[in-house]
Amino acid sequence: MPRVYMDANATTPLLPEVMEAMRPYWMEHFGNASSIHQHGQQAHAAVGRARETMARFFNCHDAEVVFNSGGTEGDNTAIFGLLHPGDHFITTSIEHSAILQAANRMARFGVETTFVAPQPSGLIDPVDIRRAIRPETRLISVMLANNETGVIQPIEEIGKIANETGIFFHIDAVQGAGKIEFDVRRFGCHLLSISAHKMHGPKGIGAMFIRRGTPIEPLLVGGSHERRQRAGTENVPGIVGLAKAAELAMHSLDDGTIYRLATMRDRLEAAILEIPGTGVNGAAVPNMLGAPDLNFETGESQPVPRAANTSNIWFDQLEGEALVIALDMKGVSVSGGSACHSGATEPSHVLMAMGLDKTRARASLRFSLLKTVTDADIDHVLRVVPEAVEHLRALSPVVAGTLG
Ligand SMILES: Cc1ncc(COP(=O)(O)O)c(C=O)c1O
Repeated sequence: MPRVYMDANATTPLLPEVMEAMRPYWMEHFGNASSIHQHGQQAHAAVGRARETMARFFNCHDAEVVFNSGGTEGDNTAIFGLLHPGDHFITTSIEHSAILQAANRMARFGVETTFVAPQPSGLIDPVDIRRAIRPETRLISVMLANNETGVIQPIEEIGKIANETGIFFHIDAVQGAGKIEFDVRRFGCHLLSISAHKMHGPKGIGAMFIRRGTPIEPLLVGGSHERRQRAGTENVPGIVGLAKAAELAMHSLDDGTIYRLATMRDRLEAAILEIPGTGVNGAAVPNMLGAPDLNFETGESQPVPRAANTSNIWFDQLEGEALVIALDMKGVSVSGGSACHSGATEPSHVLMAMGLDKTRARASLRFSLLKTVTDADIDHVLRVVPEAVEHLRALSPVVAGTLG
């Protein structure tokens, strides 16, 4: 039986080139990048080259790149490193738990947070961010692409608001990396976090862009690594792997790979939507109230930009978890929500914030495609999904007759 992996937003495999780039740094070039002998200098030079690559990836200066352990650390660093008692923090109710839980912890230290809700499409309206600003607001954090729906947020507009009002702006760009071209100057952010394992790099390594002059306290203190912004012996193979993955991601954005990925996702989505009682979460489709999301200025419905690889679909009269298991048994790996929440019975906080009721949120599945996806993969998934849905619906305890 073929196995098809469609859970790229949870994690991705290393590309062979990434593995090859990392290989020497585990054994021959194992030195500590802080040592002054040859072994250390080889490691130091590799970290320097990786920093240059990441600076191109972010479009920033080398000195503005800080290597760390991944997205959770970057998100925590932005919040714990910038906020003080009495400050106000603005974020959204659809962020990853690395932001939400950090905000909750800061409440104990006298930092109040406003969680801005999305529109039914999954988009955050920059006007709502502006409305939430208070004199004591010090930080705004908004994700680039949502991990569950793929919806891309209007971060440039939010960046403009932050810069006009003198507020620091952090972007959790973990799910945008490799799918959207980065330019931290255009984004207008002071801080941005990414993670290697979401873009075919190794797990446990990531990087932050920290705009020069941003008064951020390091999360980890100790040695003088990373210009005293992140203590701890550098994970040299990880850093080399992250940079290789970033280099390949830049090529993929230029050579049509990401466009092809969007076409494949659209083919998959269109065919699944032919199954009765289905719909997309986070797209320019009628919202929960039966009306398309409106642009309040023009009165027209708006297309919602989405990451090229993600499709989040609801299936009436189904439990998402049951469908995940049924598809797994037929060789397809998908997710019922963010990986961190799979296994939990609570419906997705992202879908609930978008206004789905609990039943529909629980009946939703995320297909997130690797950029290496093939037509044969899509064909396999399209063979098994309709059968699995039909089979489960026949067994469904949910009252029949509600399919539109
Ligand atoms: C949007 C977002 N932010 C942060 C993270 C956490 O990243 P990491 O797994 O590198 O800690 C994830 C991982 O799922 C994510 O999707």
